[in-house]
Amino acid sequence: MKILHASAEYFPYIKMGGLADMLASLTKEQSKTEEVYVALPLIGKLGKSPHWTGKEFPALLPQDDKIDSLVVSVLKASRFLEAEESGLKLYFFQSDLFQTLDSIYGHKEEHFRFAMFSYACYALSQILKVDVFHAHDWHTALSLALQKDSALPIPTVFTIHNLAYQGDHPFWMTGFLKEEPFRLITSPFDHDGKCNYMKAGILSANQITTVSPGYREETLSEPNGFGLSYCLRQRTLDYSGILNGIDTEEWNPKIDKRIFQTYSFLDWKEGKLKNKRELFQEMGRPSLPLDAPLVGLIGRLTYQKGFPTFLQTFTERRHLPHRYVVLGSGDPEMEDAFFQLSETLPEVFYFYKGYNESLAHKIEAASDFFLMPSLFEPCGLNQMYSHTYGSIPIVSRVGGLRDTVEESNLLKFKTGIVFEPNDTSSLGYALERAKDLFQSQEREIVVKNIMNLDWSWKKRKLEYDLVYTKAIELKI
Ligand code: ADP
Ligand code: GLC
Repeated sequence: MKILHASAEYFPYIKMGGLADMLASLTKEQSKTEEVYVALPLIGKLGKSPHWTGKEFPALLPQDDKIDSLVVSVLKASRFLEAEESGLKLYFFQSDLFQTLDSIYGHKEEHFRFAMFSYACYALSQILKVDVFHAHDWHTALSLALQKDSALPIPTVFTIHNLAYQGDHPFWMTGFLKEEPFRLITSPFDHDGKCNYMKAGILSANQITTVSPGYREETLSEPNGFGLSYCLRQRTLDYSGILNGIDTEEWNPKIDKRIFQTYSFLDWKEGKLKNKRELFQEMGRPSLPLDAPLVGLIGRLTYQKGFPTFLQTFTERRHLPHRYVVLGSGDPEMEDAFFQLSETLPEVFYFYKGYNESLAHKIEAASDFFLMPSLFEPCGLNQMYSHTYGSIPIVSRVGGLRDTVEESNLLKFKTGIVFEPNDTSSLGYALERAKDLFQSQEREIVVKNIMNLDWSWKKRKLEYDLVYTKAIELKI
């Protein structure tokens, strides 16, 4: 089967969060049995230089090159550059719209930039004559509407990684969608008086997926549907929740070159201790105690991740012996709060502001526990990385976190500690349980349980195969 994925992120070229990791690891698995192509924007600063093949593909279909418009001229000046990546092909959308950017999100004119990218991805799918076109999140959602209106539509799948970001813009900004080569009827995408790209994807795709069964269920009602639950309810039969897998070569303490010492479930105690000691050195905090529970936190500092719940709980539970190492960037107020703790309580708290892939691996290897206090979480990858590294996850009971972490009374099924979201007493009590677990014999068993979990794509790739088959057979 020939599959074309369209996405704004793809590890290691463009990564802002889990979408990049999820797609890189899914396509790695898919490329073992299928012909896999990935379309992504060519921004000015990529995480890795592509291996160009020298081949180029147009970003505009010949039949759409009849009447001139702003969009047509932009697309005529753009193209796809082909690159090879072990076992699959990447198609970088080369356009001035993206090449001037250092990072993918947060710039003006996103409504126009991603609409151009979406058209180009649609055109590429037609040129490559793929069997399935798989778009991810709102950035590529318009390509699904184009596909639906096409004379020769290709079966489509739309994966929602995060419903909180919908790409909605006032209609006066998106007038170009009615013109050549889009020619879209945009009234169905009206949501709260705005043109909503996410809604376009939900209404147009043959099959819709999201990244965990738990999140699927949550998005079918408010508030987690972020206003679009009514659209998803119209499509329940075509909407599946498939848990993300992880790249077990990239995230694997046995072979990880980024950590200070590799280890397995046989020598995890020595391995983690060495990683802890070295991390404290690197952080410039060599006197931090090695025998106190170390809790890692990594993530975008946004509303979703629930860090204020943690900050409040931290103040309430100062008697606990835990030490914390936090890596992240985002909301300036949260950054300030973490900075302040790092400055005033250096014997307890360390904060690194910024994005640092290597440090993320080192934190996973050194931590005894890994905290994710999310208010909502479509899947979450760090709890699965934590399992693999023997860092016991402490997670809120939401979305993919509740699907992957179980605080069972039966020790052999216990894979972490679970608390209620946005609830400081519940988190406080969870941190108390972590202290007890750290000191007890049970820890050994829980660490072995989690390090032996299989979060690879092997099985879950098959669930996508089923969705692709449905998209092909039930094409609307
Ligand atoms: P989300 O996609 O919502 O950000 P996920 O848990 O799915 O959440 O994935 C986040 C990914 O981004 C993980 O691989 C995590 O390690 C990484 N990450 C987030 N913030 C940083 C950071 N500041 N430095 C390094 N890696 C980060
Ligand atoms: C989104 C979600 C995250 C998920 C990731 C990959 O960014 O916030 O929960 O793991 O996508 O699917």
